[in-house]
Formats: sequence, C-alpha cells, structure tokens
Amino acid sequence: MEKKNLDWANLGFGYTKTDYRWQARWANGEWTKDGLVTDGNVTLSEAACVFHYSQSCFEGMKAYTTKDGHIVTFRPDQNALRMQNSCRRLEMPVLPVDTFVEAVKETVRANAAWVPPFGTGATFYIRPVMIGSGIQIGVAPAHEFLFRVFGSPVGSYFKGGVKPIALQVSQYDRAAPRGTGHIKAGLNYAMSLYPTMEAHRAGYAENVYLDPATRTYVEETGGANLLFVDQDNNLIVPKSDSILPSVTRRSLVYVGEHYLGLKVIERQVKFSELKDMKECALCGTAAVLAPVGKIHDPATGNDICFPSGMEEIGPVSKKIRETLLAIQSCEIEAPEGWICQVC
Ligand SMILES: Cc1ncc(COP(=O)(O)O)c(C=O)c1O
Repeated sequence: MEKKNLDWANLGFGYTKTDYRWQARWANGEWTKDGLVTDGNVTLSEAACVFHYSQSCFEGMKAYTTKDGHIVTFRPDQNALRMQNSCRRLEMPVLPVDTFVEAVKETVRANAAWVPPFGTGATFYIRPVMIGSGIQIGVAPAHEFLFRVFGSPVGSYFKGGVKPIALQVSQYDRAAPRGTGHIKAGLNYAMSLYPTMEAHRAGYAENVYLDPATRTYVEETGGANLLFVDQDNNLIVPKSDSILPSVTRRSLVYVGEHYLGLKVIERQVKFSELKDMKECALCGTAAVLAPVGKIHDPATGNDICFPSGMEEIGPVSKKIRETLLAIQSCEIEAPEGWICQVC
C-alpha cells in the first residue's frame, strides 16, 4: 500500500478528508450497518434533533504506525464503553462495543494510506460520533440516530520539544453538579468555547475548571484531565463525579503504579493545595501528557509556579509519559488488551 504524499512532519491538528468513513443508522429499535462509505457529507432535515437539542456525543482516539510497520489503535474498547455511557445519559441508543471497535478498525484499515509512517510524530486521529438525526420539534429524544467514524492524519502536538504550558483558572464552570461533565457530550464543548477563547486571548493554553458547587476543588481542563506530583513523589489524581474519565489518564496512572512503582492517590484536590505540588500535567489523547509550568488565577491575580518551571518537563511526568509512549509504540510490553492491531 502506497502512502499519500503528505508533508507528515508538518501537519497541524485539523481535518483532512480521507477516502473512507464507517456508518451505521438506528431506527425502529435496531442498528443497520452501512459499513464503509465514501461521502464525507451528511444530509439531514432542518428539524433533526441534533440541531436544536444538541443530542450528540463523540469520542477521540488515535491510530499510529509502530516501529515494525503495523498499524495499531490504543484501547478502543475503553472509548466504546465511554460512548455507551454518553449515550445512556443522552437517551441515545447504545452501540455494542464489538461494533464500535469493528467500525474503528475498518475505518483505519481502509484509510491505511493516510496513517502517518512511524517516526514522523504524526498520527491518524479517529473521531467516532453519534447524533440524533431524526426529526424532532418537541423537546424529546430523536427516533433515528446516525453513528459515524471518520479519521484524519494530524501532526504532533509538540512541535520542537515538550515545553511546559501555562493555564488559567476559568471564571466559568465546565459542568454542573450531577450534570454531564462525566460524558463526552457535544453540549459540554459548546459551552466551553467562550471560556476557551477567553483563556487564549489572555495568553493561556487552556482553562483549569474548579468544582462548580464550591469552587474549592480542582476538576480538569477544557479538553484534558489533570495530574499532580506531590512532595513525596506520589501521583495525585483529582477525583470528581463531573470529570471526563480520560483513557490516557487511566493508562498513565496504571503505568505509574505498575511499571514505575509510584504510589497513586485519587482524591479531591483543593485548589489551595496546588502551590505545594512539585509537578502538574494535563493528559489526553492529543498530547498524551503535557507538562504545566504555571497556573494563573484571575480572581486573585496570583500565579502558581510549579518547581519544574516553564523550560523542562518534571522528572516524574517525563518518566510516565515516555513509558506510556513506549508501550503505545510497542517498544515495551503493553498490559493485556491495550494494543489493538489493525493491520
Ligand atoms: C474534557 C476532557 N477531559 C479529558 C479528555 C482526555 O480523554 P482521553 O484521554 O480519553 O482522550 C478529553 C479528551 O477526550 C476531554 O475532552
């Protein structure tokens, strides 16, 4: 198979239309699999539920080429299970895990020419999405749904090395208590766009959100979970019912505990404790792990500067990041079921 003639090393994080996407439709209580299709457009009624009541959820994951030339994805079953949770909360039909994984594998295999070669830093980003496609004018769930998986080659998140980033505390809340923060609903992202742009306008890479009930505890960022390293080199994981359970964070924590012998403590983390942490990082599919050097709090005007600084990634963050990357590229053995070979 001949690869597409792309400048792999200089791709951004954007959409490039590839050859195939995978589709299934739900109506009358059952799924109909269309399988691979070529049309990148979707035609819907102006009265489709998704346009008015935002009945939509999605996932984000990656495929990449390993050193020995295979194309693999990372823990797609976990994304399938998370999408099932999103669907249950949004009154959408649940797609079986096997169908989700099959859709992802078929999409990647059919677009193998678009999957960046090993060593370019680029990956093939996969976007499964489900929408309420049926006509719905009264506020109620749709009667018809569309599930699609498409992908796009994307560039490395880190251009020119892993440089720490600066965050600011958002004055807005990301998720209501007992709301939808723990699922990957499109609506969570619509309402985050304004605070995200505000953070960018102020020169920060992302927002840190606090717990909406008391604004005392740290939750996560707009598109990634947070991790901390305390004075005793323990990995501290913020616990909250309104955080999206990141597949990357759960994998990093497993690596920290089982490969590196770190003590992992998952607990509520007060914002006032952050000044005592040695390292801070955000984690998610796009960046794997991005070190955070500084958090600005507009409410007080204060900066929390982590000892690892704005030049280098901290030693513990570096170790868990590199170990997970080596697992993902099959350079060291992965826990059972983590690597899903596509071809
Ligand atoms: C709000 C939010 N938190 C965390 C994550 C990271 O999750 P994952 O590691 O599964 O990509 C994402 C990205 O999917 C996200 O949008």
